[in-house]
Amino acid sequence: MKTLKIGDLTFEPFISSETIHSINVRLASDISNYYTSKEIIAVIVLKGGYIFGGDLLKLVEKDIPVYFIQLSSYADTRSTGHVSMNLTSLPDLTNKHVLIIEDIVESGLSMATLLKQPQLATAGSIEICSLLFKPTELKTELFLKFVGKEIPPAFVVGYGLDYNEMGRHLPDIYQLKTDN
Ligand code: IMP
Ligand code: MG
Repeated sequence: MKTLKIGDLTFEPFISSETIHSINVRLASDISNYYTSKEIIAVIVLKGGYIFGGDLLKLVEKDIPVYFIQLSSYADTRSTGHVSMNLTSLPDLTNKHVLIIEDIVESGLSMATLLKQPQLATAGSIEICSLLFKPTELKTELFLKFVGKEIPPAFVVGYGLDYNEMGRHLPDIYQLKTDN
């Protein structure tokens, strides 16, 4: 892994694909142990969660129905503070155990806004699994049941995470170089 130019910014290696895989193995085992015989519905948050969600669910030894929703709040390397969402593909969640799979939680605004939506109100339980979490940036009360890795407040790309739609395909995760 070496330094990478994406658009106008320079990024440096941060989390290798091997490390991501070991994180996913641990999360998958935590999820299996937590739910044991309960039936789960997975909700993958697009776009950022598409690679993580796919890789993670391959490792959970359970047949889990998967749904997708789309949330967005970011432009360039910052949150706009406004969350737009499309939940039209969600089934009736009444009494279901819902596992939300997200790429990264920063302010927590996206997840907090999602949890308030009426479609989720009748679920039997709702837990969040986020690959990455920037704990110093959290601005709302939010409980994350499963966290892959806590990271400092740097902007990151790769493994589903983007910089203005670039860099999602990278197998490793890179962080913004501070002296850009
Ligand atoms: P929050 O609402 O502030 O918690 O931001 C969460 C959303 O912002 C995530 O789902 C990502 O889509 C995006 N985001 C936050 N931090 C980063 C980052 O470092 N790189 C890419 N996207 C990010
Ligand atoms: Mg996201």
